Amino acid sequence: MQLNFPDNFWWGAATSGPQSEGRFHKSHANVFDYWYDTTPTDFHDFVGPNTASDFYHSFRADIKLMKQVGLNTVRTSIQWTRLIDDFETASLNPDGVRFYNDVIDEFIANGITPIINLHHFDLPVELYQQYGGWESKHVTDLYAKYAEQCFRLFGDRVKNWFTFNEPMVIVEGQYLHQFHYPKIVDGKKAVQVAYNLALASAKAIAKYRSLSKNNDGKIGTILNLTPAYAASDDPADQKAAHIAELWTNKLFLYPAILGHFSEELVELLTKDQVIWQSTPEETELIKHNTIDQLGVNYYHPFRVQRPDISPDSLMDWMPNKYFANYDMPGRVMNVDKGWEIYPKALYDIALNIRDEYHNIPWFVSENGMGVSREERYLNDQGMIDDQYRIKFMKEHLTWLHKGITAGSNCFGYHVWTPIDCWSWANAYRNRYGLIRNDIRTQTKTIKASGHWLAETSKQNGFDI
Ligand code: BG6
Repeated sequence: MQLNFPDNFWWGAATSGPQSEGRFHKSHANVFDYWYDTTPTDFHDFVGPNTASDFYHSFRADIKLMKQVGLNTVRTSIQWTRLIDDFETASLNPDGVRFYNDVIDEFIANGITPIINLHHFDLPVELYQQYGGWESKHVTDLYAKYAEQCFRLFGDRVKNWFTFNEPMVIVEGQYLHQFHYPKIVDGKKAVQVAYNLALASAKAIAKYRSLSKNNDGKIGTILNLTPAYAASDDPADQKAAHIAELWTNKLFLYPAILGHFSEELVELLTKDQVIWQSTPEETELIKHNTIDQLGVNYYHPFRVQRPDISPDSLMDWMPNKYFANYDMPGRVMNVDKGWEIYPKALYDIALNIRDEYHNIPWFVSENGMGVSREERYLNDQGMIDDQYRIKFMKEHLTWLHKGITAGSNCFGYHVWTPIDCWSWANAYRNRYGLIRNDIRTQTKTIKASGHWLAETSKQNGFDI
């Protein structure tokens, strides 16, 4: 039986500027560049962002490969630290302007629609050092100025914009769970940063809509959704899952789509005395600048158990890794993370968006399987025979298809990632690409999954 997807479905893949381009000719360092320069031992195999997958030099050849694996859309991000020379005035770095113009034109010349994200964890380090980064509302204004430059420069050709990738990772990585620089544990700052990111997104959306030439385009945001399932029927686990859902998913879904924060979450944060500082003007801005479309990054669910400590304080739970995965039987991916593989969550997400978020148009903006030491699967022809990744994509797409059949308004599926890329502190530990990158030689070859996707994209579906 053949599963057919809607007409004009986005068969695509996602990457980001800092993970693919390399640092060549950038005017400034971002927080990851700085972290690597000062503490390279924090990075897997001491590999940093300097070269990444060399997209800065090889974008023309890379885009040809992306075309060969059937991608009709590709998401990447613009680097604030490459495009902008002076953050206060948002003056431009001419080489950055040239580079992104060339990249966008090259995608279009190859029949690939560029999907552009404005921020993928890559805060300019100077803005952290001067203002505390996303802790500061001034930085949200600087971000909106940078966003405006992007819309003005590229809005004639780019019609699908996204304001942030996974704001929750910024909050948790930098301010709660210490996996990203500056590895702070501070609930109050974490909550203010979350609010400021929602505010910054609304400011960029307001700018976009004020530029009339962009009226035919769409703007959205990209959230990592992690459905929180209770580990058992025990009411304490059920309650814990409900609260995990409030923090993990509703924190950003509400302002982005509904234009306000969840009252229940605000109540909890108020009780914990960590609620953000806001003004009535900002509340209005968020209310009137909701997104046109949503990107959903999905990798794994949470299985939530009740905490050992006070079940009523959200902030007490956080540093205790309250939301860590409950040990589930079954397949997992990523040696270091042990992420549970649970494709049905995509169906649950689809129905949740249909029922609770106005059935807003959305797409899977990242889904992928990270595998370590993937050279193990090189076959006699020198190709990575990643049948496990094909199985992974088929299973997720099958559940997504059920969600679409049930009326959810999903218009695309993007694999993380087109070409094996550098992944923050994990560097190249987990390979996700449809295309292998031998990082010693920067030689790129299509994997079995890339050939499978080319056929699937051509057929607009696959046999199950
Ligand atoms: C996503 C991010 O959360 O996960 C990507 O948007 C990242 O930037 C991807 O690379 C995979 O992460 P990791 O650490 O498993 O390589």
